[in-house]
Amino acid sequence: MSKVDVLLGLQWGDEGKGKIVDVLTPEYDVIARFQGGPNAGHTIEFGGIKHVLHIIPSGIFHEHKMNVIGNGVLVEPNIFRQEVLSLAAKGVDATKNLYLSKKAHLILPSHRMLDAANEHAKGSAKIGSTLKGIGPAYTDKIARSGLRIGDILESDFRERYELLKFQHLQTAHTLKFDLDSFRIDNMTLDEYEKQWLASLETLKEFQLINSEYFINKCLDEGKKVLAEGAQGSMLDIDFGSYPFVTSSNTVTAGVCSGLGVAPSRIGRVMGIIKAYCTRVGAGPFPTELFDETGRRLCELGHEYGATTGRPRRCGWIDIPALRYACMLDGVTDFFVTKSDVMNDFDEIKMCTGYEINGKVTDELPFEFNAVEIKPQFVTYKGWKQDLAGITKYEDLPQNLRDYIVAIEKVTGVNVKAVSISPDRKDVLFK
Ligand code: GDP
Ligand code: IMO
Ligand code: MG
Repeated sequence: MSKVDVLLGLQWGDEGKGKIVDVLTPEYDVIARFQGGPNAGHTIEFGGIKHVLHIIPSGIFHEHKMNVIGNGVLVEPNIFRQEVLSLAAKGVDATKNLYLSKKAHLILPSHRMLDAANEHAKGSAKIGSTLKGIGPAYTDKIARSGLRIGDILESDFRERYELLKFQHLQTAHTLKFDLDSFRIDNMTLDEYEKQWLASLETLKEFQLINSEYFINKCLDEGKKVLAEGAQGSMLDIDFGSYPFVTSSNTVTAGVCSGLGVAPSRIGRVMGIIKAYCTRVGAGPFPTELFDETGRRLCELGHEYGATTGRPRRCGWIDIPALRYACMLDGVTDFFVTKSDVMNDFDEIKMCTGYEINGKVTDELPFEFNAVEIKPQFVTYKGWKQDLAGITKYEDLPQNLRDYIVAIEKVTGVNVKAVSISPDRKDVLFK
């Protein structure tokens, strides 16, 4: 009997999860997404091709591997269809090895409208949502009024759809939302809905399954399953900087509810971290840099959202936040990405504690959003060397290896590999 290995982002998302999943896929039989939805943007690069996945697991480029969209995921049929088509254009037929849970909830066009209406109503307090309908769709799931993929096969689906949409329109009206000028991909809500309803037919071409049985059976048979996280632990609905979070459990616990596996069946937990930190959208970010160094990280790291194109806020690595994530997730090893972005830096800083009201702590305060946090930094020497062409971990510059050792020391977690470019081939295992 095997266990489910887990791969998660430990920061505020965009740590390079997609890339590492793609690299690890040859070791697994099944890659499964367990939470989130099209708010995710997972980039994979190889052979000069760059591909961004939103809903489909990052194992899809490996022909004989099974990919599962678990019950905890939200599926937006139009975005799903576009993703399937863009894979097909690259010669990947997703219908062959992609399975969808019948229990995964649907994002309706009116969920996306409500996302925009809610953000609009919040004014300057807005979350900076990706506007994919995540919050409203999970709200309906918890309120027990959502629609699931399996429901599209039922005869009363359209009736239930119309009722839910009607409720959403009423809410938008209450929020005084200007529906007339609202657009999704330059389409009115009605135009978008037409496409959305047509995209349900695409969903029906796929294998719609009870994914909890599927995954557990795979484990019983000794198959290897990798759960692919979306977003990052600091965006978790319970433990992130609420309300500046996403609406799902992005931590390891989300694997159990999002795939239907028991806690005792969780194996390794691989945490993906950037060598620095980024955040897109609003909310606290203690180590954020507003200076030239921050701008350099953004430019050299091409830190623009894979889903929305927004510039990501950049800063130094945040150890209190990382230790918190390791505690919540039970991380067994790290993958460090994007150290190459700092090749030219004279020095690199690491935040090891927060000074709050004159006291230094490494515990994230409940008032994370409200208190002034002065990050305490330790400085490391830069390596001032191009990493391109290095193929062995041992050949990485000493200063970079010292920085890695320092991360291991303050977190108590070993680094398994370091990624030094966006390309699949550039992951150096220790
Ligand atoms: P994800 O959401 O965690 O899958 O990450 P994203 O795809 O949103 O963002 C990570 C970005 O960094 C993508 O553009 C990747 O191609 C890129 N990337 C991943 N690993 C590395 C790395 O080691 N070095 C560099 N320079 N870029 C990387
Ligand atoms: P991946 O999987 C980075 C952020 C949004 C916003 C907040 C809520 O690519 O790492 P939502 O659309 O979920 O209501 O937005 O969460 N966010 C992400 N930031 N990477 C992501 O996914 C994200 N998904 C959501 O920017 O601040
Ligand atoms: Mg991303």
